[in-house]
Amino acid sequence: MQLPRYIAHRGLSEHAPENTLAAIQAAADAGCEWIELDVQYLGDGTPVIWHDATVDRCSDGRGALIDMTREDIRRLDVGSWFSDDFRGERMALLDEALSLVSALDMGLNLELKLNPGHDAEMLAGVAVHRARQVLPQDRLLVSSFDMTALEHARSRDDALALGLLYEAVPRCWASDAERLRPFSVHADWTRLEQERLIEVQAAGLALLCYTVNDPERFASWWDHGVDGVFTDDPGLFDARYQRQTRGDGSRKPR
Ligand code: G3P
Ligand code: MG
Repeated sequence: MQLPRYIAHRGLSEHAPENTLAAIQAAADAGCEWIELDVQYLGDGTPVIWHDATVDRCSDGRGALIDMTREDIRRLDVGSWFSDDFRGERMALLDEALSLVSALDMGLNLELKLNPGHDAEMLAGVAVHRARQVLPQDRLLVSSFDMTALEHARSRDDALALGLLYEAVPRCWASDAERLRPFSVHADWTRLEQERLIEVQAAGLALLCYTVNDPERFASWWDHGVDGVFTDDPGLFDARYQRQTRGDGSRKPR
């Protein structure tokens, strides 16, 4: 699997409402090769692309996602909070997002988002099953802060590329890695320590940072060897950093 240096976070979320089909399309239009999306499920079990536990911040409705059905969320406008240009945008079902990512020939980092009331086994089961039906192995990376969800993902698919998602990478990351055999470790760049970066890459894993929207402050991390970043707007970065990375940390020109 080859990842680009830039993965559009929640789609191209600086320019379109996050985690929507519009944000996926905007990322493709901007030339992004990979995107990151959050998946969770509704009260009726339908998997949807959404970040928060509630719909309050990014829609014209209110309430917890876990209390809603597919019919409920279809009535929400999830675009006009962002701008009038996106009025009428509907919450994306996982299946719709997967179809669009596939049609656009993009790669996807699907983050299993365990908000309160969600079951790790159920989310991992439904999301991995559906994603693998639509996307080839080299265009799917499944990540989570929830190691139990990743264990269920691994047990469903031995060859699936997994990303261990942490805020600060803990000293015990290697025991998670031994158990889960991940492709990558994903870290909050503001809490990254160089020692952890070196350890992760020495183990042959890629180190990806989120959510990087300040290229100048981040710049020295490229020199330390970070493989890639999640950003709300890849267009913020200087073209000289537009290089491909590999899972083993080596780079080649785009
Ligand atoms: O997967 C990287 C990043 O998306 C993790 O944080 O809260 O934006 O889902 P969050
Ligand atoms: Mg995420």
